[in-house]
Amino acid sequence: MGELHVMDHPLVQHKVSVLRNKETGSKQFRELVEEIAMLMAYDATRDLPLEEIEVETPLGPAKTKVVAGKKLAVVPILRAGLGMVDGILSLVPSAKVGHIGLYRDPETKLPVEYYCKLPLDAEQRLTLVLDPMLATGGSAVDAISQLKKYGVENLKLLNIIAAPEGIEAVRKAHPDVDIYVAAVDERLNDHAYIVPGLGDAGDRLFGTK
Ligand code: PRP
Ligand code: URA
Repeated sequence: MGELHVMDHPLVQHKVSVLRNKETGSKQFRELVEEIAMLMAYDATRDLPLEEIEVETPLGPAKTKVVAGKKLAVVPILRAGLGMVDGILSLVPSAKVGHIGLYRDPETKLPVEYYCKLPLDAEQRLTLVLDPMLATGGSAVDAISQLKKYGVENLKLLNIIAAPEGIEAVRKAHPDVDIYVAAVDERLNDHAYIVPGLGDAGDRLFGTK
């Protein structure tokens, strides 16, 4: 069974509080999403395999370790997942980036697929699926299903704020996937928005409302 990791680090908690505040503007919102994503990826990559190499220091040879083999892919769920990419790339510049385009139909609340472009060797990498919000879980479940169809097995889901319903849906559909979140909120409202949440993540990132 995949694990649920709630990132209780004080810096993550502090940044999430600023993110939630409705007075926080798009510039700061984008910066915070990047920073939180970077800190979450730091935790989500702690089991990457290492191999020993030898390098020459100014004082002689040193046996030391580097990450082994193909490393990381990140796959943001468009649009809001895009806000998490650069923070993770600043930590792992060699990561490949795929994109999955989904939007939630406002009536049915179900995800509508509109784009999918993945790295050719994604199935050989640890793939981090990125979306700031896990509400009903429909988008994440669909994105993970698309990745699995493509052959990707080593998958982790990173969300900044999750509703209990979304966590439940992902665990039911994809029990093998570890989920990393910075906060688990109370509930969904009638429009399937997370309460208290932070509002519409895409709109706040890109200033579209
Ligand atoms: C938001 C969010 C997730 C999804 C979460 O995207 O970024 O992708 O809703 O909801 P769910 O868990 O109920 O599927 P939205 O559909 O608003 O699209 P956008 O990112 O393009 O604004
Ligand atoms: N999408 C968002 O951006 N926010 C929510 O609370 C739910 C879905």
